[in-house]
Amino acid sequence: MNNVFMDTYHRLPVVFARGEGSWLYDINGKKYLDFTSGIAVNLLGHNYAPLVRAVSEQAAKYIHVCNYYQSDVTAAFAQKLVNACAPAGMKNVFLANSGAEANEGACKIARKYSLLKYGQGRHTIVTLKGSFHGRTITTLAATGQEKFHKDFGPFTEGFVHIEGGDIAALEKALDGKTVAGLLIEAVQGESGIIVQSAEFISAAAKLCAERDILLIFDEIQCGLGRTGTFLALEQYNVKADIVTLAKGLAGGIPAGAVLAGEKAADVLKVGDHGSTFGGNPVAAAAGLVILETVNTPEFLEEIKRKGEILLSAIKQHPKVKTARGKGLMIGFDIEGNSWPLLEAAIARADLAKNQCGLLMLSSGEHTIRLLPPYSLTDSEAEQGLAILSQLLG
Ligand SMILES: Cc1ncc(COP(=O)(O)O)c(C=O)c1O
Repeated sequence: MNNVFMDTYHRLPVVFARGEGSWLYDINGKKYLDFTSGIAVNLLGHNYAPLVRAVSEQAAKYIHVCNYYQSDVTAAFAQKLVNACAPAGMKNVFLANSGAEANEGACKIARKYSLLKYGQGRHTIVTLKGSFHGRTITTLAATGQEKFHKDFGPFTEGFVHIEGGDIAALEKALDGKTVAGLLIEAVQGESGIIVQSAEFISAAAKLCAERDILLIFDEIQCGLGRTGTFLALEQYNVKADIVTLAKGLAGGIPAGAVLAGEKAADVLKVGDHGSTFGGNPVAAAAGLVILETVNTPEFLEEIKRKGEILLSAIKQHPKVKTARGKGLMIGFDIEGNSWPLLEAAIARADLAKNQCGLLMLSSGEHTIRLLPPYSLTDSEAEQGLAILSQLLG
């Protein structure tokens, strides 16, 4: 569109002007079925009326107060969020604005917990290869993917990456002498939807409990109902010491959260941490709508059901090599390159032919990632699958 932006994104050639449910419309009126949700953000689709209303009404009351005072709507949101995460063992919350900021907060808590109990030198955070935890210098250090590291060192020290699924490596890395925390995604998003095994997650929970290492679940992409339970970790029958959330937490208004369980809840004291916009009232009003809508057994069950429809159809396509996922978080590998497929899916949008485009994400050279909004209807799922099938050939 113009070149005032830094060259940080490989942007596809489409300029959006409005959205409605699972659909986006570009400036020429062409229509696109959104299988990305803005990377797991627009959970309830675009222009969801109760969300728009909550945001507008809150903006008309007050948009911001600083964290030296209390906000009625922020307090209500925080309480509802802690309640929603109580099954995972969560007791309280720090509100932030993004995923990276939430993970930074989690690392600070783990390090201070360990310092207070065991003194200096027990500050390492273990994470998994293929993980993605953010773009700040510290969360890049946490991220177990070399391609994000080049050019930006030196990084915050004290991060170690091990192979997901390797219980022997986990046992070795969590040494009880130098490690403060284990930071993991139950389902890795950025690296192409990698689902951790039940054995690995329960070994992690057991070792962390035995060695008093804080178990931190990054649920920024896989949380908030995406996998069919409110938190993905619920499907593993484990509890967390810390959970981080962001992305869809306020349905598209920036928001992040660090939730803490029994061990970690009282670690941070006045002056230890803060954020100007954390707990912003407009984001909180939006977050209330998200929690009220998503966190019901019926709604979560629907996410699972729709995910199964998509995944089983994708698995059957002859051009799909492998496919995996949980709920509406699906990854699959193809023979050819993923990027041309994304381009073709957009380029097929045509007003004269009354033909829509399809928005998808790539996760590396040969992998496609789908994160459709929970608003997806069965007929939209079918339409998306038909387009995908045609594009794959
Ligand atoms: C699992 C996970 N953690 C952290 C982040 C970073 O979130 P943000 O971009 O809001 O800083 C992301 C973003 O993709 C993510 O998927």
